[in-house]
This record gives sequence, C-alpha cells and structure tokens, in this order.
Amino acid sequence: MNSFYKIIDFVVHGDYNGNLVALERGGVIPFDIQRIYYIWGTKFDVIRGKHAHLNLEQIIICVSGSCEFTLDNGVDLREKVILDSPCKGLYVSSMVWREFTKFSDDCVIVVIASLPYLESDYIRSYDKFISIVKNDQ
Ligand code: TYD
Repeated sequence: MNSFYKIIDFVVHGDYNGNLVALERGGVIPFDIQRIYYIWGTKFDVIRGKHAHLNLEQIIICVSGSCEFTLDNGVDLREKVILDSPCKGLYVSSMVWREFTKFSDDCVIVVIASLPYLESDYIRSYDKFISIVKNDQ
C-alpha cells in the first residue's frame, strides 16, 4: 500500500434487515467533507477521470456494481484497483493521475470530496501533471 491511495474497510452494520455503512467526518473520513457526488450510467469501455487534482482528497465508493481505477503518482507507481464492494472505500490523495473504466451496468460510484468543485484544482493534461510532479521533487 502507498501513501497516495489506500483501501479503507468500512464497519458494516448488518442484520436480517440488510446492511448499513455510516461515514462520519472525524471517523473514517480523514478530511472535512465539502462535497459529495455520484456517477452512474457509464458504459463499460468509457474511460473517465483522466485528470489529477492539485489539492483535492477523495474517498471513492462503488456502492453498486464494479469498476477499475488506474492510479498514477507520476514518479514510479501506476497501479490498478478494482472497486466492487459498498463495504470498501478508495482514498485518493491530491496529485494522483486517475482513470477509471470497466463500469458494470449496475455501477454506481459515490465520491466524498475534501473541496467544493473548483476547475482551478484540476490538472487535465498528463504532461502538465508530470512536469508539476518533477518540479515538486
Ligand atoms: P469530470 O470531473 O470531468 O468527470 P469524471 O472525471 O468523472 O469523468 O466532470 C464531468 C462534468 O461534471 C464536468 O462538466 C464538470 C461537472 N462537475 C460539476 O459540475 N461538479 C462536480 O462536483 C463534478 C465532479 C463535476
């Protein structure tokens, strides 16, 4: 596991009624929650993301179905993570190039974010991402 992402196992409150996961600021979420958004209805072979963030941190949860994330720190790591469970969250730090694809038909992704939507926080060019990473080293 690396510092730029980690898989978080949530506590599941399950009984004969079904299952429930509760996520609280100060609990399993390591930042102040500023925004929540969700993504669904994306075809299997679409590639979303293709950006990094200057400051944003996120926890990404595939609450239904599955999809595959590629996470790239711009230096030495490019790793694939499959999300296929509502019991797990993928924490992604700032300055990580991410692409996600292989969406199942029933895929619903919930994203918990540390900042409001700010286009100025996006790095949408991979070359620019690499040059910023190199300058920071
Ligand atoms: P984008 O971040 O490019 O989606 P993805 O990385 O999942 O492919 O966002 C898609 C569109 O939605 C884009 O027009 C910006 C808009 N958007 C908002 O208005 N608010 C948000 O919080 C997000 C994440 C996107």
